[in-house]
Amino acid sequence: MNQSTKQDLRQILGKFLTGVTVVTTIDQHGVPVGFTANSFTSVSLDPPLVLVCLAQSAGLAPVFRRATSFAINILSTEQEAVSNGFARKDADRFASVDWQSKSTGSPIIKGCAAWLDCEMYEKIIAGDHIILIGNIQDAKKTARNPLGYYQGRYCAIDLPEETLSLLEHRKSVHSTTGVLVDYHDQLLLIEQSDGRYDVPRTEPGGEGEESRIKAAMTKLGIEVHNKVLFSVVEGRHHQRISIYYRCNVEPGEALPPTARYFKPEDLPFDKLSRPELGNVLRRYLEEKNTGQFGIYVGDEHQGHIEQIAERKI
Ligand SMILES: Cc1cc2nc3c(=O)[nH]c(=O)nc-3n(C[C@H](O)[C@H](O)[C@H](O)COP(=O)(O)O)c2cc1C
Repeated sequence: MNQSTKQDLRQILGKFLTGVTVVTTIDQHGVPVGFTANSFTSVSLDPPLVLVCLAQSAGLAPVFRRATSFAINILSTEQEAVSNGFARKDADRFASVDWQSKSTGSPIIKGCAAWLDCEMYEKIIAGDHIILIGNIQDAKKTARNPLGYYQGRYCAIDLPEETLSLLEHRKSVHSTTGVLVDYHDQLLLIEQSDGRYDVPRTEPGGEGEESRIKAAMTKLGIEVHNKVLFSVVEGRHHQRISIYYRCNVEPGEALPPTARYFKPEDLPFDKLSRPELGNVLRRYLEEKNTGQFGIYVGDEHQGHIEQIAERKI
């Protein structure tokens, strides 16, 4: 590959949104070492394996080639400085972080979104990188939100902790999931038996949310692209949660007779089947106009919009 296509490739790969980790170990003199990496990925659940790729040219490559264990620290939104610090050459990387040892002795950095403590399972040379495969010995998540990274920038979806725990525990309360289906600036609504309109909804139960949304869309003959969380509307006393996703679609070939795409000006706001739906649809249209989508978190009357923030390095 020539120089310019390498640059192109970097930009193409940069479209893949990742988290940010700091990979740590203890060197042969007992000194903690680590580097920032976004090439982390999970590999296997049984046995529990993860991998990260380290440049062979990195100063720490000889240390990790010898290492028998390492830890993956998944950074939180408050840890941009940690990410930058562990990517800087010749910096005293551990000077500004607190850390502790868990199962293998590799440093677990305080303030992370999650961590995985691994025995070295295998090292594979692949081109100019070494793939370090770790066998997870111990792992924990915290309530902190993970830091994101794409196209050379940090980004973050700063959902508040209560929302995260609501989303996590929603199986224990009554929850319903609706999908805002947008095809060429028209929104899909389904006419209910009482003449009111609703967005497509998933059936309760069954496998995870992803496949329930897919199943609901397949029923309408629709293929979904780019499903993104849009609203978490909590009913009174936390007993009911309505979750909305937004997505773009390929047109359904044969929509059922009750399903219809509406232009924004034709949306039947006076005939919607749920109290929160009018606000959800209005905000969708407004945010689509500005091109800046957020995530609404609140109840039917009041709440706030979490921006999907983008931060420059
Ligand atoms: C967000 C981010 C992600 C990175 N991901 C990787 C990676 O996956 N693998 C890698 O070898 N270097 C990665 N780097 C670069 C290393 O952190 C950096 O080159 C290294 O720590 C330099 O130190 P050294 O050569 O002195 O060891 C990343 C840097 C940043 C800022």
